[in-house]
Amino acid sequence: MTLSLPILFLSLHLLPLLAHSSNHTNPCRSFCGNLTIDYPFAIQPGCGHPGFRDLLFCINDVVMLHITSGSYRVLDIDYAYGSLVLHDPHMSTCDSIVLGRRGNGFSVEPWRAPHLSPSPDNVFMLLGCSSESPLFQGFPGKHMPCRNVSGLGCDEYYSCPAWDIISPRRAGPVYGSGPPDCCSMPYESVKSVNLSRLDCQGYSSAYSVAPLKVSGPGQWAYGIQVRYSVQGSEVLCRACEATGGSCGYDIDKHSDLCMCGSWNSTSSCDSDAGQSEGAAFRRKWSCWVGIAGLLISALFGGIPTNFDRNRAKKFVALSL
Ligand SMILES: *[C@@H]1O[C@H](CO)[C@@H](O)[C@H](O)[C@H]1NC(C)=O
Ligand SMILES: *[C@@H]1O[C@H](CO)[C@@H](O)[C@H](O)[C@H]1NC(C)=O
Ligand SMILES: *[C@@H]1O[C@H](CO)[C@@H](O)[C@H](O)[C@H]1NC(C)=O
Ligand SMILES: *[C@@H]1O[C@H](CO)[C@@H](O)[C@H](O)[C@H]1NC(C)=O
Ligand SMILES: *[C@@H]1O[C@H](CO)[C@@H](O)[C@H](O)[C@H]1NC(C)=O
Repeated sequence: MTLSLPILFLSLHLLPLLAHSSNHTNPCRSFCGNLTIDYPFAIQPGCGHPGFRDLLFCINDVVMLHITSGSYRVLDIDYAYGSLVLHDPHMSTCDSIVLGRRGNGFSVEPWRAPHLSPSPDNVFMLLGCSSESPLFQGFPGKHMPCRNVSGLGCDEYYSCPAWDIISPRRAGPVYGSGPPDCCSMPYESVKSVNLSRLDCQGYSSAYSVAPLKVSGPGQWAYGIQVRYSVQGSEVLCRACEATGGSCGYDIDKHSDLCMCGSWNSTSSCDSDAGQSEGAAFRRKWSCWVGIAGLLISALFGGIPTNFDRNRAKKFVALSL
């Protein structure tokens, strides 16, 4: 009795420490097909970075990305480079040209634009645009907006087998004889690939896998390579994860937070700043209980100098 009482008090005091070092897996990390969904992305609401909320969905082991312009299959997520590769089934490739405005193009909600944008090395090749297209306005007698991006462009794309059935009208150096059948440019030039607005029939998209040198458009990587950015939030997230938390955001305010199991912090799971009052109270309370336990044991049974670790563990297990 004289031994078990202080052990009980001590184990209460040790509880938060033990819980901290226990094997708890990140509840925000998930797997879908062969892809890992990790910060800043998440499938569960409240997890990940707020800029990527309501973005990814796991449907039959396929990661789908949903934005204003439509839904895309996510082929890859490169966390080291900070990029995603998207696939649109109605996008033209080297083997087939899809017209009739069936492709999605690419446009995001304005609030999401700072976080998600096609990479500067990604080329968009707009197909079958009318002479009334905004692309060709304001350039009479001047150079066209069409250009190569990281060595990828329409001049080479025309050599694809898909063009065998349509003899392409190529761009002249000066605007005048009608628009070319293909006009390539980086996303930055248009800010939104909306086939209706641009008055184009289709599009293709490819990205450079530099420094890999590829020979011809049959070897290009087709798809939309998108860069993502969390704009400074990764420092907060690293501190959160280092203290055993999971990075998330407040569902109502969309502000970053660190999920620490039973409570949420605005910084890390070790800090008192932003800690919920309940957790702060529990921590203080367990500290006083520990001190009281030592005092009581000193009064009634002497200070426990050599207490049994296994019994302490048993008490922890019981109180859990
Ligand atoms: C930690 O959790 C994982 C997943 O639940 C489990 O597979 C693993 O065995 C656990 N490790 C320990 C040491 O308990
Ligand atoms: C912590 O935040 C997440 C995400 O907003 C929320 O789902 C959860 O209920 C919060 N937990 C507590 C204890 O407030
Ligand atoms: C594309 O442009 C059309 C016409 O300007 C507009 O009605 C439509 O909402 C736009 N779509 C997207 C996804 O922005
Ligand atoms: C995942 O699987 C798909 C097909 O099942 C494949 O195209 C893709 O390259 C794979 N991605 C990775 C990162 O292994
Ligand atoms: C694009 O590159 C090709 C060769 O890869 C070149 O012949 C063509 O002139 C370039 N086009 C523009 C608009 O710079």
